[in-house]
Formats: sequence, structure tokens, C-alpha cells
Amino acid sequence: MNSRRPTTPSLADLHDWLLEHHADTVDADRLPAIRTELEQLGGRGVPGDVVELGCYRGAMALWMRTVLDASGQSWRSIHVYDSFQGLPERGEKDPDLFAAGFLRADPEQLLALHDGWDRTPPKIHPGWFADTLPDQLPAEIAFAYLDGDYYDSILTSLTACVPRMAPGGTLIVDDYADLQANPKAWDGLPGVKAACEDYFRALSPLEVVEGAGDLAFGRYTAPAAGAGR
Ligand SMILES: C[S@@+](CC[C@H](N)C(=O)[O-])C[C@H]1O[C@@H](n2cnc3c(N)ncnc32)[C@H](O)[C@@H]1O
Repeated sequence: MNSRRPTTPSLADLHDWLLEHHADTVDADRLPAIRTELEQLGGRGVPGDVVELGCYRGAMALWMRTVLDASGQSWRSIHVYDSFQGLPERGEKDPDLFAAGFLRADPEQLLALHDGWDRTPPKIHPGWFADTLPDQLPAEIAFAYLDGDYYDSILTSLTACVPRMAPGGTLIVDDYADLQANPKAWDGLPGVKAACEDYFRALSPLEVVEGAGDLAFGRYTAPAAGAGR
């Protein structure tokens, strides 16, 4: 439960500040797309918490907290997960783009960011996904943002999150590039889509979310109660 919230910052101000200071992970497509997902969640009355798998310095976590607060959903908790040691070694389905340890952050950076905008910080779960997710995810997830970049990280994230999704909850996979559906999508991390295909197989292809630029987002919507995956 979140308690501290004198006034919610202007989303327009925060949007512009994040684009200026955190352009390495958020952009003018991602921010409104995630805002729309969260606002619709409130409108549909989906129960459950919000999780981010791969939070880095907390830019998207801060945006999600502020959108929730501004849309009457301050009661939703946010849980974030990260190694805080940066990316793991890449697997064979991942490109040779980044060295292990790239994107290393410190939980203190995330806390300072939330403090600077006077927002309640998320519950932080440091560690590798394979160690933290099985026991530390909330029982019911309304919205999940999967941003682990690599095949193994996304497969581990899907395996842990999908069975915990609330009926009608949504899960966004960042860097999911389906070039047939959206030729503009950035296709730099093909292990992400490969993990989704291996997890869902033919059952439930992700919907593609398009932006004005090279957004690569896939959306999974959990079925209504009793409908199966
Ligand atoms: C692109 S960054 C996340 C950016 C963040 N979502 C944002 O929008 O501000 C990817 C993060 O995933 C984390 N990560 C990737 N694979 C992981 C794993 N298997 N376990 C824990 N953390 C992982 C990295 O440490 C890194 O901080």
C-alpha cells in the first residue's frame, strides 16, 4: 500500500524530463504506450499488482508509479526485479551487442529518482530472475513489463509471470520485433521474440503495439477466468 503522495507531478513534465535524462531506456513511443496500458487497466477494473522485470535505474518504474497515481490507482503496488549487475552473458540466440555487465545500476539510483519526484518507490527485488521470480512475484499480476533484453531472461520472465496474470491483465514484452506485422520495429534483440515463440508456441501469438518510431512491443492479454491460456 502506498501512503506518501502530496501532489502527483504533471505527467507532461515528467515525460519531458525522462526523455531528456533517461533516453537510453525510455522514449516518446514507450512512455505513452505504457501509460495507455495502465490507464486501461484501471478502466477495466483488473485486480493485482504491477511488475517490471529489468528495471535498471528506474525510469519506467517512476513513470508507471506516476501514471498509476494520476489515474486513481495509487493502491496498486509496483514490484521491480533486476540483477543490479547489468546484463548476464548473452546466449546463442542473442546478438553480440553488449558485454556482460552492461546496464549495471544501483538500487540507490532508483530510490533517489523516486525521491526526487516525491513518489513512493517500488518494492525492489535484487538478483537474477531465475533466483528471485519463482518466490518473489506477487500472487496476482495486473500488468507486467518484461524488459530483460535476452532470450533466457525473457523466457524465465514469461514462465514466472504468465501463470500469475490476473484475468484480463496485460503483459508487454519490450524489444519484441515482429517485422512482418511492423516493419518499422527495432530488431536489435532477436532473442526476445524467439523466447516468446518458444514459450507461447502456436497458442497465443503476441499482439504488436506500434508507435510513431521504431517501437518493438508485443502485448499478451490474459484470458478471462476459466478460459485457459
Ligand atoms: C534495458 S534495461 C531495463 C530498462 C528499464 N526497464 C527502463 O525502462 O528504465 C535491462 C535490465 O535487465 C536486467 N536483466 C537482464 N537480464 C536479467 C536477468 N536474467 N536477471 C536479472 N536482471 C536482468 C539488466 O540488469 C538491466 O538492468
